[in-house]
Amino acid sequence: MSIIRNVAIIGASGNFGTPITNALSTSNFSITIITRLSSTTSHPSGIPVKRIAYDLTSLTKAFANQDAIICVVGPGGIPLQKIFIDAAIAAGVKRFIIDDFGWGPEAHGFDEFAAIHKQRREAWDYAAEKAQEHKDFTWTGLTTGNPIDWAMKKFPMMGFDVAKHEAIIYDDGTERFTGTTLEGIGQAVLGVLEHPEETANRFCKVQSIQTCQNELLEAFEKVTGEKWKVTKTTSKELIQSGKEDLHTGNGMWRLKLAVATLYDVSEGRGMVAASRQESDAELLGIKDESAGDIAAKLLR
Ligand SMILES: NC(=O)c1ccc[n+]([C@@H]2O[C@H](COP(=O)([O-])OP(=O)(O)OC[C@H]3O[C@@H](n4cnc5c(N)ncnc54)[C@H](OP(=O)(O)O)[C@@H]3O)[C@@H](O)[C@H]2O)c1
Repeated sequence: MSIIRNVAIIGASGNFGTPITNALSTSNFSITIITRLSSTTSHPSGIPVKRIAYDLTSLTKAFANQDAIICVVGPGGIPLQKIFIDAAIAAGVKRFIIDDFGWGPEAHGFDEFAAIHKQRREAWDYAAEKAQEHKDFTWTGLTTGNPIDWAMKKFPMMGFDVAKHEAIIYDDGTERFTGTTLEGIGQAVLGVLEHPEETANRFCKVQSIQTCQNELLEAFEKVTGEKWKVTKTTSKELIQSGKEDLHTGNGMWRLKLAVATLYDVSEGRGMVAASRQESDAELLGIKDESAGDIAAKLLR
């Protein structure tokens, strides 16, 4: 496969689009941002922006001369991937990075997420089907697990209130999970574009760290030099509460079951790869981060 030079990103200013765009900005790739006509998002200056209707004709025109498209739109845009893929093929794009940045096709999630997973899977399967039909078109998925420095800071329910120096420890705090930092997510995309052959037509498993709550709590206490107030609870209670929320129409069910995905005892739901060696972290150049590194990032 020939070298990738020109790259367009859809969803460039989102939670994950921002670190990906930052990583691309420091590279030699030539970047273009694709955005909706209705977008109110502000985009970084100095990068060309194509504000277009998301129909086949406009997308095909906007994708002309692009070697790769990175799709990192928010959940509301997931169903648009089929038209993005059709336009990419029509424009002669060689690589389409599909919108995963989560738990991938092997996700061992709760049944309550089945409908969401099905919708995501349809687009992934579509990319794979199209790659069979069009030999010059390829795809990659990036399975990143918990976006650890972003999610832990945003959602204290994940166990750590970094402003108050308080922790909620689920069960015995030893359930292990895969975390990828925002920097790691940006590097993962760069790694794919730099290794098009090795990453073609497959999901790459990504990680910055594999850890558990006890390791993170120890690191937080070491970095802050103080004992944190700890509240103990169980993942079972969290799962029950999440399921009750779903039945009563309370949208908190998503967050509760997303947190329980990390901590459900002995289920390994939050694991993307068994180890760094079994992930694609080395191939993609993702930094191996310690619990201390993560704690320091969160406290910064
Ligand atoms: N593993 C995890 O725990 C985790 C957590 C969060 C997100 N994710 C996944 O990461 C991916 C990116 O999520 P994100 O949180 O970065 O997204 P986001 O910040 O919600 O949105 C990113 C961009 O997507 C575009 N967009 C939003 N809604 C759209 C719609 N209905 N139609 C078309 N475009 C739309 C917008 O770009 P413009 O305004 O420029 O058009 C927006 O700035 C998703 O697949 C998401 O599910 C995973």
